[in-house]
Amino acid sequence: MVENKKRVFDDLALEEAEKFLLEYQRQKPWYSGAMKTVCAKFEVLDDEFSMLRGHDPIHHIESRLKSVESAYEKLARRGYAQVAENLTQLKDIAGVRVICSYVEDVYDIADVFLRQEGVVLLQKKDYIEYPKPNGYRSLHLIAEIPVSLSKETRSVPVEIQLRTISMNMWASLEHEVSYKVNADLLDSYRAELKTCADEMHAVEKKMQGICHRIRNGK
Ligand code: GTP
Ligand code: MG
Repeated sequence: MVENKKRVFDDLALEEAEKFLLEYQRQKPWYSGAMKTVCAKFEVLDDEFSMLRGHDPIHHIESRLKSVESAYEKLARRGYAQVAENLTQLKDIAGVRVICSYVEDVYDIADVFLRQEGVVLLQKKDYIEYPKPNGYRSLHLIAEIPVSLSKETRSVPVEIQLRTISMNMWASLEHEVSYKVNADLLDSYRAELKTCADEMHAVEKKMQGICHRIRNGK
């Protein structure tokens, strides 16, 4: 009896997972289109800034589509029972990371992008002005952009993280150690990691000053 009941639940979970996979595959071209469009927009802006100002604001761009497994896991974690129906609740299925040389490049390029026709800002979190307590810095935007497939045009959300090279270095290393080290041990490193983040930020501000003086011929 217990065995039968368990099998029914397993079958239900399997059915739900299959439905979710199907929905993810149906939605994927929209998110993939949005991700590619946002990357292209930033690349084009980088070319234009480079031509007008003689300085490339973007060091490099990374992008990813959230995997079907982590989308499922995130919705389940957030307590959505009907995961397939709620896939579009996730605003970070398409993710673009724009790594800039200096902080001022982050704000300049974000401003110009957000003023473009068709780009609609849904959410902005400025962890550069207000760093997280652990020292994490980045400018996070969730913006909707229009995507056209063969039969329809839709506004699709993309999570965009803009940060400098040094913020990216810190976030990558912090992410790695957070996964490798257990929570208790990590606690003993927290203060040191935060000091690193603040020192790196101070160094990049100094370097931006040097860059300004060179550009102004001083
Ligand atoms: P989630 O979308 O569930 O992550 O929650 P949220 O929307 O409240 O998160 P937030 O906008 O603060 O951050 C989203 C993403 O930013 C994460 O998935 C990471 O890629 C990055 N991020 C945020 N905080 C940290 C941090 O402390 N360290 C590192 N390495 N990355 C972070
Ligand atoms: Mg998020």
